[in-house]
Amino acid sequence: MSMDPAATATIAQGGPLRIPAHLGVIMDGNGRWAKARGKMRTEGHKEGVKALRNLVELCINHGVANLTVFSFSSENWTRPRDEIAFIFNLLRRFVVSDLQRLIRNNVRVRIIGSRSDLEPSLIRLIEDVECKTRHNNGLTLVVAFNYGGKAEIAEACRTIARAVEAGTLSPDEITEATIERELYTSGLPDPDLIIRTSGEQRLSNFLLWQSAYAEFVFVEENWPDFNEASFLRVLQTYSGRERRFGSVKAQSS
Ligand code: IPE
Ligand code: IPE
Ligand code: MG
Repeated sequence: MSMDPAATATIAQGGPLRIPAHLGVIMDGNGRWAKARGKMRTEGHKEGVKALRNLVELCINHGVANLTVFSFSSENWTRPRDEIAFIFNLLRRFVVSDLQRLIRNNVRVRIIGSRSDLEPSLIRLIEDVECKTRHNNGLTLVVAFNYGGKAEIAEACRTIARAVEAGTLSPDEITEATIERELYTSGLPDPDLIIRTSGEQRLSNFLLWQSAYAEFVFVEENWPDFNEASFLRVLQTYSGRERRFGSVKAQSS
């Protein structure tokens, strides 16, 4: 658990690793992982939780400050009812079973997404884990649950429009910072790196606004198979990327 981040440089081949301050992960491919083994899709989701636990440890060991994982999208409501119920139960079980370990590891938990269609008991559980970990200052683990990037931006617009209607804000004062303050991720840096597993190459409505300058790495393995070797490979790829943010590369002479 207490691996020196500098040590990662010696583990990885090909030079020092650059560690993203904020890593986003689209944990995809649970269903295909299960299907390939003749199991129910739900078995894939269960196995996916183990890969998530492992990723949290890796982020702590390698000095990633913020980790956002996509665990249920606002579009996932179109799935069979049984599968939705199973995923909701997994979130509850994860929060209950892992709370003490997260506290011990100094992890601050934040759950982002719409709460309007969640059961009151689940909302209480979410508020409880956020409250019990709010003074931790190690890894910030952000779980995107019932999250959709478009819905998030629309909700921010409604809040801002109400302020304009109330006369407390003028339209000319609306800047990018005004919008960022109203997003679920307010206060977090934008993701530097977004990983998607299972070979799909799309965002599927994940952190639309926030990913404006993120680097993307798509890997073939399904989420339950994502392990330390995959993590180090991705960091190696990320470390080789040149981020320009619209500017030009620094000239040596
Ligand atoms: C990701 O795995 C988990 C969720 C979307 C909840 P999937 O369930 O999407 O697995 P595939 O993509 O069908 O294999
Ligand atoms: C994105 O995966 C959502 C999560 C990983 C939670 P999906 O499996 O829902 O995305 P699509 O439907 O393949 O785009
Ligand atoms: Mg999928």
